[in-house]
Amino acid sequence: MASLTIRNLQKRYEEVEVMRDINLDIADGEFVVFVGPSGCGKSTLLRMIAGLEDISAGELRIGDQRMNEVPASKRGIAMVFQSYALYPHMTLYDNMAFGLKLAGKSKAEIDAAVMRAAKILHIDHLLDRKPKQLSGGQRQRVAIGRAITREPHVFLFDEPLSNLDAALRVKMRLEFAKLHDDLKTTMIYVTHDQVEAMTLADKIVVLSAGRIEQVGSPHTLYHHPANRFVAGFIGSPKMNFLAGTVQGFDGDFVQVQLDNGGIQSVAVERGALKAGERVTLGIRPEHLHVVHGSQIIPATVTAQESLGDHAYVYADCPAAPDGLILRVPEEEQYRPGTALQLGADPQRCHLFDASGQALARVKVLQAA
Ligand SMILES: Nc1ncnc2c1ncn2[C@@H]1O[C@H](COP(=O)(O)OP(=O)(O)OP(=O)(O)O)[C@@H](O)[C@H]1O
Ligand SMILES: [Mg+2]
Repeated sequence: MASLTIRNLQKRYEEVEVMRDINLDIADGEFVVFVGPSGCGKSTLLRMIAGLEDISAGELRIGDQRMNEVPASKRGIAMVFQSYALYPHMTLYDNMAFGLKLAGKSKAEIDAAVMRAAKILHIDHLLDRKPKQLSGGQRQRVAIGRAITREPHVFLFDEPLSNLDAALRVKMRLEFAKLHDDLKTTMIYVTHDQVEAMTLADKIVVLSAGRIEQVGSPHTLYHHPANRFVAGFIGSPKMNFLAGTVQGFDGDFVQVQLDNGGIQSVAVERGALKAGERVTLGIRPEHLHVVHGSQIIPATVTAQESLGDHAYVYADCPAAPDGLILRVPEEEQYRPGTALQLGADPQRCHLFDASGQALARVKVLQAA
C-alpha cells in the first residue's frame, strides 16, 4: 500500500510560515503533479514527504503508518532531483548500485535490480561509463534508474526535466508516462511545465503561497477552475480577465457589462450573484473571437505573433488592464492599431465574483 494522507500539514522556518494547513489524499498508484509559482512551497512539500524536512505540525501517513517521525531512509520513498546528484567518479552501474550496497544486498540481487532498471530506461549499454561521458538526458535516466533500483512505494520527482532541451523534454515526458504505466507506483512530480502537468497527471495540485488552491484532474482544472488564481495559472497563454458589473439575468445566462464598453453573456449558475455586483469575466485566448454584432467587446490590436499553424493577437481593451490575447488562424493578419470587436460563446466563458471565486458553469441545452 502506498497511498498518502496529508492532514493539516504545516511548515515553519522560525517565524516564517511556508506551508499552511495542507490537506491532500493521494491514492495508491496515482500520478500527482504539483504546480504553482516559484516559492509557493512545492519543493518544501516534497521534501517533507521524503523526510528531508521536519514537519512543524499536522500528520503525514503512507498507507496506514504515521511517517512524521520515520527517518527518510525508512519511508520507502525515492526522490529524483533536478540536479541528478550522481557520483562523478563512479560508473553508471555503481551509481545505480550504491544504495543497494549500503543496504547490504547480495551481489546477485544488486545485479538483477540494476539490470532491470537499466533495461526499462534503455541505458543497459552504458553501464560502464561515468556520468561525464553522458548527455543530460542519459544522466537524468541514471538518476531515475537509481530510484527504480530501490523499489520504492512512492517516487518523488522535483522538476526532473528542467535542465533538458525542449526536444529531449518531450521524449523524457513520454518515458515518464510509460514508466508509470509499467511500474504502477505512486508518483509525485513537481514541474513548471504546463504540458508536463496536463499530460502526465491523474491529479494536479495547484499551490500558491503555501496553500492548496485546487486539486483536480487536468480536465477539471482547465474547464472548471475554482478561482481566478487557478484560472490564470492553468493554460498557456493565460486566460484573459476583464472587469465588469452584473447587468442582469436572462434564463441560464448572466449579462456582464464590461468597464468602458461591451457586454458579454456568460452561462453560469447565478447563485447569490446580484445585479450591480462587481465581477471578473474570464475568456481563454482560444475562445475569444472576432465577432460582429452589437453586444461585443471593443479592443485595439497591439501586436501579432505567428507560431506556424496559428497566431496570437495581442490587443488593448479598457476592461482588461493586462490586455487581451486571442488565438487566430495563421492566415488572419491584424495590423497594430486595428479596431476589433471581440466576443465568446457564453458557454466558454468563466465568471468570478468579487472575492475571486468561480461561479459554477452551466451547460445550456441548444434550442431545437
Ligand atoms: N531553509 C529555509 N529557511 C527559510 N525559508 C525557506 C527555507 N527553505 C525554503 N524557504 C522558503 O520557503 C518557500 C517555499 O520554497 P520552495 O523551495 O518549497 O518553493 P518552490 O515552490 O519549490 O519554488 P521553485 O518553483 O522556485 O522551486 C520560499 O518562500 C522559500 O524562500
Ligand atoms: Mg522547487
